[in-house]
Amino acid sequence: MKALVLAGGTGSRLRPLTHTGAKQLVPVANKPILFYGIESLVEAGITDIGVIVGETEEEIHAALGDGARFGAAITYIRQQQPLGLAHAVLVAREFLGDDDFVMYLGDNFLVGGISALVARFAEERPDAGILLTRVARPREFGIAELGPDGGVLRLEEKPEEPRSDLALIGVYLFTPAVHEAVRAIGPSKRGELEITDALQWLIDQGRTVRPTVVSGYWKDTGNVDDLLEVNRSVLESVESGVEGAVDAASEIIGRVHIGEGARVVRSRIVGPALVGAHTTVTDSYVGPSTSIAGHCAIDNSEVEFSIVLDGSRIEGVGRIEASVIGRNVQVRRAGRTPRAHRLVLGDHSRVQIVP
Ligand code: TTP
Repeated sequence: MKALVLAGGTGSRLRPLTHTGAKQLVPVANKPILFYGIESLVEAGITDIGVIVGETEEEIHAALGDGARFGAAITYIRQQQPLGLAHAVLVAREFLGDDDFVMYLGDNFLVGGISALVARFAEERPDAGILLTRVARPREFGIAELGPDGGVLRLEEKPEEPRSDLALIGVYLFTPAVHEAVRAIGPSKRGELEITDALQWLIDQGRTVRPTVVSGYWKDTGNVDDLLEVNRSVLESVESGVEGAVDAASEIIGRVHIGEGARVVRSRIVGPALVGAHTTVTDSYVGPSTSIAGHCAIDNSEVEFSIVLDGSRIEGVGRIEASVIGRNVQVRRAGRTPRAHRLVLGDHSRVQIVP
């Protein structure tokens, strides 16, 4: 069995956490979301992995390399334009050959791995397998309608009048039957070759598309509240450990991991929390559900339920909560009058100020 991981698409520079173009590299608990997908494939015994890349190819390549660090062998497949998930399957035809494969969308996050699903698929070999999860706003998703026997009757992309609240998740299992399907369909209204249309084509041909309903699913939509929430839940299982230095005047409580070369001085860290490599925390408090990446400095401040990315400095600003701070950001206390906020904010930034 092989895997096809989709990490193409256009850069998402207009979203929060800009600068990095690839949304698949947005970190959750100090690790790019894409890594969780690759790891769960390897855990399920799939090591021959094709990665679809687009205009952010360089960034993705730099992050994943040849796959050896995951125990996998990665083949990069360039998709010139993001013409749809089914288009990605077309482009990967040569790599996929006649093997069964898992298609994994690189910005999706599935709690609990896929080993059991893959094992069951390999044993029963329906023509395709899809994963579904219950959602609150079905109009925003690909939605499946199931028949009385639990089989898939119909799939609809972002229906105006949803027939269920079961949304398609970005992990699919395919036999080579899908290749005929992706060749048979035409572009949708939005001009893409939709995987939902390919699946519907299989259903219409009388093929078996087996659904499995799962819970514990997240996808990067650029929504900060969702990102904080998934970060919080992943931190629940963080492994405690101190690789850096913690001085005697500091206190570490609960599950906390302090990275290599990090220093904690006269501070209190209450887990679950991560302090990345070569980060310093001085005269500060880091509270639960916080991920601070590497090479940051937290000085005279309090940070809780937040994500701070590489190289950022937070100095003397009191308490920061429920915040996402990008790379190489500086948040500092103003020294002199006038008493005014000075801001240099990127596109689509959001700031909440306590008067
Ligand atoms: P999305 O653009 O999120 O695909 P979607 O169809 O789920 O979008 P929407 O939320 O608007 O319904 O892409 C999902 C993942 O697949 C993401 O990691 C980018 C990648 N991708 C490709 O690699 N090639 C493509 O052609 C497309 C459309 C997506």
